[in-house]
Amino acid sequence: MKVDVLVIGAGAAGLMCAITAGQRGKRVRVVDHANKAGKKILMSGGGRCNFTNLGTTPANFLSANPHFAKSALARYTPWDFIALVEKRGIRYHEKELGQLFCDESSKLIVRMLLDECAAAGVEVRTSCAVTQVAKSEEGFLIETADGPIQATSLVIATGGLSIPSLGATGFGYELARQFGHRVLPTRAGLVPLTLSGKHQERYQDLAGLALPVSEARVGKHSFRAGLLFTHRGVSGPAILQISSYWQAGDDLRLDLSPEADIGDWLVAQRGERPAAELKNVLGDLLPKRLAQRLCEVWFPSKPMRQFREAELVDIGRQLHDWPIVASGTEGYRTAEVTLGGVDTNELSSSTMESKRVPGLYFIGEVVDVTGWLGGYNFQWAWASGHAAGEVA
Ligand code: FDA
Repeated sequence: MKVDVLVIGAGAAGLMCAITAGQRGKRVRVVDHANKAGKKILMSGGGRCNFTNLGTTPANFLSANPHFAKSALARYTPWDFIALVEKRGIRYHEKELGQLFCDESSKLIVRMLLDECAAAGVEVRTSCAVTQVAKSEEGFLIETADGPIQATSLVIATGGLSIPSLGATGFGYELARQFGHRVLPTRAGLVPLTLSGKHQERYQDLAGLALPVSEARVGKHSFRAGLLFTHRGVSGPAILQISSYWQAGDDLRLDLSPEADIGDWLVAQRGERPAAELKNVLGDLLPKRLAQRLCEVWFPSKPMRQFREAELVDIGRQLHDWPIVASGTEGYRTAEVTLGGVDTNELSSSTMESKRVPGLYFIGEVVDVTGWLGGYNFQWAWASGHAAGEVA
């Protein structure tokens, strides 16, 4: 069987690429080894798919080449995807910070993409494993469970390593290496962090406790959002975001109450309620169980009148710059994304085509472009898929 474009991977990027190429009149086939298309889309956003972010800019992405994503993102914006969503009558809402979610279900996004594929004449084959890929005179020869396919263009949209149970494999990286591409080291991103030894013991029984607002910092990067203590460490949006910048050994700091000057507040409290114990006073600012733990392990809990002003100012300073000694991450099992991947220096930033092998394209998460939490990763999948689909 012969096609103009074969896309491997029926996820966000692959389906968008197939739609775009199909709409140009190309004969397009998409193959995926999973039994369903768009499994990550279905799981995303707690089942409501945070499908884009209105504030998307190249600054919301990590890559060894921060300029790479600019061209594709500029040519397919959140508004382009919103137009598609609106055309299909899918209702959506902005949750916070530009994050757009479906009102009903992520199923509607997958349905929309598959309907667009059908309308553009694209064939989508699931439960179809790819066993071999070779360069041929006319393009590529791909051996699949459905038989061999001859394709003029080959698009690799197999995503990253996160959540193997949803079909993730390292296939795209292996294929990139097979064709001489460099693959930058991969690691789990947007992932809970784990603690060990005494650092874990001190927080373990706080599991389930949440801080609505905290600020997590690593070096010059910081994120202000919620934080959650877990049985094994820390999670919540602030931690997931900073996890993409954190590597073993890095100094992770938390501001436990970034919206108040804790030192000033404690000094004022000393004047107002001198007999109250520090743990009870702190319990008005922080979750009570956390305040109690802080006073069991790190600070003496005694009546406020017994603290000197400088001591209270120092406690405030520490709580704004609280060290969390993380030992690792929860890994690909729970990570939302994979950092690193196919080196962008060997790809065209406007078309995603390989500079080494004409007709070969890499799109979506398999490429070394990783977005923050909040709809940015799907926007990269749509934009890079569209860029390749315009030319493949
Ligand atoms: P994606 O992973 O979507 O698709 C790759 C496809 O390739 C899969 O269908 C897979 O089965 C297939 N494949 C893999 N190996 C293969 C092989 N050897 N042969 C054939 N097929 C193969 N992002 C966001 O912006 N908003 C959100 O709300 C969320 N939420 C979210 C929740 C969860 C639980 C996860 C794990 C991730 C998110 N993300 C997210 C991230 C987002 O899902 C992710 O970045 C995109 O799906 C990446 O799109 P791709 O098309 O590149 O890969």
